Amino acid sequence: MSVAKVTFLPENRTVEIETGATISEAARQANIPLTSPCAGAGTCGRCRVLLPDAGSVLACRQEITEDTVVEIPITSRLGGLVVHLTSSIESSSIDRPLDPLTSKPPSDGPSYGLALDIGTSTLAAEWVDSRSGQVLVRAGRANSQAAFGAEVTRRIEHVEDHGPEDLAEAIGNDIQALVTRMSEDLEVEAELDTIVVAGNTGMLHFLYRYDPGPIRRAPHVPSVAAPPSVCSSALGLELRADPRIHAFPSIGGWVGGDITAGILATGMHRDDALTLLIDIGTNGEIVLGNREWMMACAASAGPAFEGTGITCGSSATPGAIDCAAVNEDGCITCTTIDDEPHHGICGSGLISVVANLFRAGLIDRAGQILSPEPCCGEPGYVLIPADHSATGRTIGVAQRDIDSVLRAKAAVFAGVQSLLASAGLSASDVERLIICGGFGSVLRPVDAVSLGLVPDLPEDRITFAGNTALRGARTALLSKTAWAEAQEIARTTTYVELIDQADYFEAFTSAQFIPHTDLSLFPSVSAPTQRTGRS
Ligand code: FES
Repeated sequence: MSVAKVTFLPENRTVEIETGATISEAARQANIPLTSPCAGAGTCGRCRVLLPDAGSVLACRQEITEDTVVEIPITSRLGGLVVHLTSSIESSSIDRPLDPLTSKPPSDGPSYGLALDIGTSTLAAEWVDSRSGQVLVRAGRANSQAAFGAEVTRRIEHVEDHGPEDLAEAIGNDIQALVTRMSEDLEVEAELDTIVVAGNTGMLHFLYRYDPGPIRRAPHVPSVAAPPSVCSSALGLELRADPRIHAFPSIGGWVGGDITAGILATGMHRDDALTLLIDIGTNGEIVLGNREWMMACAASAGPAFEGTGITCGSSATPGAIDCAAVNEDGCITCTTIDDEPHHGICGSGLISVVANLFRAGLIDRAGQILSPEPCCGEPGYVLIPADHSATGRTIGVAQRDIDSVLRAKAAVFAGVQSLLASAGLSASDVERLIICGGFGSVLRPVDAVSLGLVPDLPEDRITFAGNTALRGARTALLSKTAWAEAQEIARTTTYVELIDQADYFEAFTSAQFIPHTDLSLFPSVSAPTQRTGRS
């Protein structure tokens, strides 16, 4: 083996690596992580880079044989997915007396805490003044662990094969980068003394270096459901003042601390009304209940709702298509986040596009495109022609993207049906439906219902609650009572394993149609006239 120099553009950063290594490995060594939804299996096509002689290649498959220069397009880099950063001053709206989780006595002066949501795809954080409850800065960034796979199971496999360090280091670097960026945005010099983390079970295992293997093996019991509160340095983090980290406890292997935080934020554990909470992401986590009882399950939706694993997918960054509508000509029009030029489709955009393709009669109830056209080298439907997109490439949905959406929504809806059946209830008994996750208020109820993603309830019973994990983290940060409630939520919520439910797979199969095989479940959704052309 010899050593070759690899120079990455536009950074102009050079690393030396043994020949035979892949470009992805060299990029990681150069600290330029690439998006890698399939964890280097060569199947997702999202890690494309440009070589002077060979043109476009897959970084995960291309071995280095000699000194080379590699150009990384923005669509292939994780750094390019760094998310919204907003600075704002706002009062916290928690409905409990201010009693922050910090152990720093008031006589010791200001106290600052970080509410942190570690999602599979992105991190979101709020820097909070614990004395006043004000949010001083809010920020988010892509989760660099995506270089080891878009799905939690891929990352667990990586830990099983290579040990916990890569994942722990990736998330540690992300947290440190977020904290540094936020502290630079503050107008005063401030140090954190408390961090409250809401994350799914996998993310918490990676952060704490626990063995994540049991999460993916039946009976899916986490190695540790309630991680202890520790100093950040104990987790290998290098943060000024070594703040104390408190992580929300998990409810089950696939229903993590982010859902515990979400329940806390929505207050469904204190409400008489029967509430259905659905967190839409790679896993569709579902909670049903009220102040008397709660049960929860997780349906494996795959990464489509996170905007990964699909042809023109994107995380929810400016320029990502987030909403679609049918115009007067019967064609699909799209809006983007921050009205920036189109560069891809995020999760809410994908749901909206597929729902509107159905509404426009351009796909049938099985999701088949009636007049497929060439779209990114596959049969599909073009939304934005190449000469109108920010990337110079066509943006659209391929048939396989629609198939992925139908599988994902079927998994979630079948999970809802299973929970309702376990409780001896039906959808009409649900008094409040809360949809949370990164979709915020962008996803329209009509799209979620007409796709068959959520039960067909009146719009006034449906609420989009945005990032409830982050809100729950802030709530606990500012209230010891709320933190104690979170422990009780995790302890008392019943975890339902869907694969043990006799009817789940039948429900899943029946739900792979728009809106469903059983149209009586969706009385408000009417079948459109099917069309075989644009107009
Ligand atoms: S094809 Fe390279 S990471 Fe998926």
